[in-house]
Amino acid sequence: MEQMLGRVLVIVPTYNERENLPVIIRRLREAVPEAHLLVADDDSPDGTGEVADELAAGDGHVHVLHRPGKQGLGAAYIAGFHWGLAEGYGVLVEMDADGSHQPEELPKLLDALADGADLAIGSRYVPGGKVVNWPASREFLSRGANVYTRMMLGLPVRDATAGFRAYRAATLEKVGLDDVQSQGYCFQVDLTLRTARNGLRVTEVPITFVERVAGASKMSRSIMAEAFWRITMWGVTGLPARLRRRRHR
Ligand code: GDD
Ligand code: MN
Repeated sequence: MEQMLGRVLVIVPTYNERENLPVIIRRLREAVPEAHLLVADDDSPDGTGEVADELAAGDGHVHVLHRPGKQGLGAAYIAGFHWGLAEGYGVLVEMDADGSHQPEELPKLLDALADGADLAIGSRYVPGGKVVNWPASREFLSRGANVYTRMMLGLPVRDATAGFRAYRAATLEKVGLDDVQSQGYCFQVDLTLRTARNGLRVTEVPITFVERVAGASKMSRSIMAEAFWRITMWGVTGLPARLRRRRHR
């Protein structure tokens, strides 16, 4: 698989994850020893950046990107993607630091790429997918966001907001990152939409999402508001083309 897909870089964005980071790095290094890891830290006030530096000093597979301040998950991933593409990695993985995405499930995502996917999404909402320990309110919000996304964008994806995913480098090069404006979690929907609109193959793989035990979620009203207005805008501006296609079928 290595030969076909190239080297694997797992990008982990962090903001105040000092307790979680050592654990997730150890789990990833055990689960997929050949993979490299890039921590993209937004100058976390709790010192996550220094923790990352210490871990990197002791392990050649661990790298750190220090960013000047909290600029959002999307911006951190874009910076991480640019770093990884410049370093020649063949696969770029997105994974949260808080244990919600289980490194032990990463091989399933890589297998999907090896089987021909251009983007493999670890999905909570396909058969076999699960969410553990989420309050009903958060699951309702997440499922609602996915229903709204499917309705507005006509994307044939059950979990378009999912944050555990693997991209071929060629996929990111084809969709282009320069005009991506999404800062928060709608970044995930943004890149799913771009990948699908480029005619590339998106495969969903069932995963079990486990809610964090340490630290706090960074989800906020402003992240939700950004997602809502951007998805609405993408839906409305994409609508004429979708209607045309439907009429000609
Ligand atoms: N560098 C950086 N900058 N990292 C960030 C930022 C930021 O502004 N905001 C969040 N993160 C990091 C967190 O430290 C964590 O590692 C990861 O991004 C996910 O953040 P959480 O706050 O734990 O997200 P969540 O559990 O509420 O949401 C998860 O599910 C969403 C879908 O429902 C994530 O996987 C999202 O990506 C996903 O869209
Ligand atoms: Mn989380």
